Amino acid sequence: MERMFGRPIITQEQMRSRIRELGRQISADYAGKDLVLVGVLKGAYAFFADLARAIRIPVRIDFIVVTSYGTGAKTSGKVKLVTELTEQIKNKDVLLVEDIVDSGLTVQYLMKTLAKRKPNSIQVCTLLSKPDRRVVNVPVQYIGFKIPDQYVIGYGLDYQQKYRNLPYLAVLDQASEKDA
Ligand code: IMP
Ligand code: MG
Repeated sequence: MERMFGRPIITQEQMRSRIRELGRQISADYAGKDLVLVGVLKGAYAFFADLARAIRIPVRIDFIVVTSYGTGAKTSGKVKLVTELTEQIKNKDVLLVEDIVDSGLTVQYLMKTLAKRKPNSIQVCTLLSKPDRRVVNVPVQYIGFKIPDQYVIGYGLDYQQKYRNLPYLAVLDQASEKDA
């Protein structure tokens, strides 16, 4: 029998259908614009790949790597940019693609940093949002799912760098915590 990790809260089917909607909405909103999708790694890798393919207008893609957490489930509140963009974003419309907006510190930092390069616009698309955990008020234009204050894994999100490859979203349980 397949070993389950955590308690699934968003299935692959729910994910697929919501991402299709987001893709449609983004395609309509950015029609005729010079859109650059910027994926925030590592967490956004799975969502990014699915979202990009659900968008029906030509886009450029780029990635940045940030670290905002230690290796556990608790926030350090610190954000560091580990890599640089390879695309020019000046005068272009940037859509930051995130796995989850939690405290909002990562998104706040990234928007501030990328704004210095004078893009035409910067907005955020996140698969998940935990509104109860917000410590800074950041504008998030596209949200896949709002979830309660629980630590989640899978579909790109990790616990101590594991479980990113789970094809669904699950709440971390004690068994997975022990395995990690
Ligand atoms: P923020 O800066 O507090 O908004 O946190 C953003 C980052 O924290 C996300 O991009 C994730 O990498 C990580 N994170 C926050 N909550 C979770 C969670 O429930 N599971 C896994 N990673 C999380
Ligand atoms: Mg992240």
